[in-house]
Order: sequence, then C-alpha cells, then structure tokens
Amino acid sequence: MELGISGRNALITGGSQGIGRACAEALAEEGANLVVVARDAERLATASREIASNRSGRVIPIAADLTVVNEVERVFKEAENSLGQIDILVNNAGSAPLGFIGDLGDEVWQSCFDLKLMGYVRCSRAAMGGMRGRKWGRIINIIGRGGHFPTAKYIAGGAINAAILNITQALAEECGPDNVLVNGINPAATATERWDTLVQQRMEITGQTEEQIRKASASSVPLGRIGAPEDIANMVVYLCSEKANFINGSLIDIDGGVSRAL
Ligand SMILES: NC(=O)c1ccc[n+]([C@@H]2O[C@H](COP(=O)([O-])OP(=O)(O)OC[C@H]3O[C@@H](n4cnc5c(N)ncnc54)[C@H](OP(=O)(O)O)[C@@H]3O)[C@@H](O)[C@H]2O)c1
Repeated sequence: MELGISGRNALITGGSQGIGRACAEALAEEGANLVVVARDAERLATASREIASNRSGRVIPIAADLTVVNEVERVFKEAENSLGQIDILVNNAGSAPLGFIGDLGDEVWQSCFDLKLMGYVRCSRAAMGGMRGRKWGRIINIIGRGGHFPTAKYIAGGAINAAILNITQALAEECGPDNVLVNGINPAATATERWDTLVQQRMEITGQTEEQIRKASASSVPLGRIGAPEDIANMVVYLCSEKANFINGSLIDIDGGVSRAL
C-alpha cells in the first residue's frame, strides 16, 4: 500500500530507544528521512546506524537535552541544515516518575514539565510555521492514558499528559486550516526501558515483587499482554500517511482495551 511517506522528513524526539526508536524504524521502513534526538550521543549514534541500515532514507542523529530552550533551537537549526524542511514531528521524549503528591518535590515536577510539556510545546512551535507555510504537516504527540484517567500514584505524569491532550486539540484547531494535522496517541503500559523503571518504582511504592507487578499489568489488559513499541509506531505511520488526511485533533488510546470510557 502506498502511504505517501517516502521522501518526507521526520524529526523524532527520544528516537534512540523505546517507542521513539520504534517510530523511527517504522517511518524509515516507509522511506522517510529522519532526524532522531536524545541526550546520550553514543546510544543515539548506534541507534541511527541501525535504523539506517538497509534503508533508502537518511538518518541524522542530533544529541541534545530537550529541557533546554537553546538546545531545542539548535536541534531545529541543525535538522533543517541537514535535511531541509521538517514535514513530520513526533513529540515523544518524556518521563515522569510514579509517586503520590507528597513524594514529589517541586524539582521533580519542574523537570517533568520542562521535558514533556515545554519540550512538546517548543518543538511544535519550531516545526509548525514551516509546515503551515507549505500546507502539509503532521505533528504526533505521544501522550499517555494517565492524562484522562487520573491516579493518585502517577499525579505528575497524569497532570502533564492532561495538559498535552488539551494542547493537541488546540493546535489541531489552529493548524488544521493549513493542512497540518495534529493528533495524540495514548499508550498504556508499553515494554520499553521506561516501563522497566516504572516497574521498579512500583515495587518500591507497593512492596510487591517484580513478577507480581508484571503479571498484574498483563492480566489487566483484555488482550493479556502489555503493549509493544511497534503497536504505537504502527499508528504513528498511519497518522503520517495520506490515508489519514481527515484525522485531526484525535486522541487515540492504544492499550489493548484497557481504557473503557464513552
Ligand atoms: N512505556 C510506557 O509504558 C509508556 C506509557 C504511556 C506513555 N508513554 C510515553 O511515551 C513516551 C516514550 O516513552 P518510552 O517508554 O519509549 O521512554 P524511554 O524508553 O525512556 O525512552 C525515552 C527516550 O527519550 C530520550 N530522552 C529522555 N530525556 C530526554 C531529554 N531531556 N532530552 C532529549 N531526549 C530525552 C531518551 O534518550 P536519552 O536518555 O539518551 O536522552 C530516549 O531516547 C514518553 O513520553 C512516555 O511518557 C510511555
């Protein structure tokens, strides 16, 4: 099936591992050129080489800390110098620890806020002007179901994800008239390095064993397993394709049926 992604230029934040890496692999498979961004330069360079191998498109690694305003500006300058225009932005780099409100100091809230909320805002702002001028663009925000299902033990992540749900639909309204489509994906538990960290944090908070937590997580999903990064990446590819031309401002749960709300 021709998806219309070949030759497009995509920038993926947090593209060195986990969901971002899977998105990079999937878009590269469709013939996109990529810029992948993460802090750890060595891991990013290795990932970029592996993503590029046997594929036609270019993969440019840019090591940067997206919590820093100047770094975001540098990333877009270098990306545009290397690839020219950015057609697709996948906002994905984010993290927030498990913890109740009393467990999380202001500095934790601030670092989650700087990376996920302000990182997504700054990258969107940097990308959307060019996309709107060319009358084609896709911004995909990887968010998280905690944004619309608040839980006490994931209060910081839930609150920041809720803000991004809101921003996604607001940007979809603003950019839609210029054929720049903005959508959000809410993964539930997905097997990545970050999920392993969350399991460790949950062990500390609940006193349960790793096996108990992993078993309970899988059995809470009607499909009997947690997500794979590729489950999310497949939706990203679809939303970036010409087959998704009328999908804008949608917030899509990819969770094996965990979320049941009308
Ligand atoms: N996995 C889940 O269960 C799950 C569920 C719901 C939502 N999500 C969301 O999905 C997204 C991806 O999660 P994941 O599980 O794939 O995470 P992950 O495995 O921890 O990967 C995170 C990526 O972001 C990069 N990164 C982290 N901090 C950064 C910074 N300050 N500047 C630039 N890059 C940075 C990391 O590389 P460096 O460390 O080298 O910078 C890495 O490439 C996140 O927004 C997360 O909240 C995940």
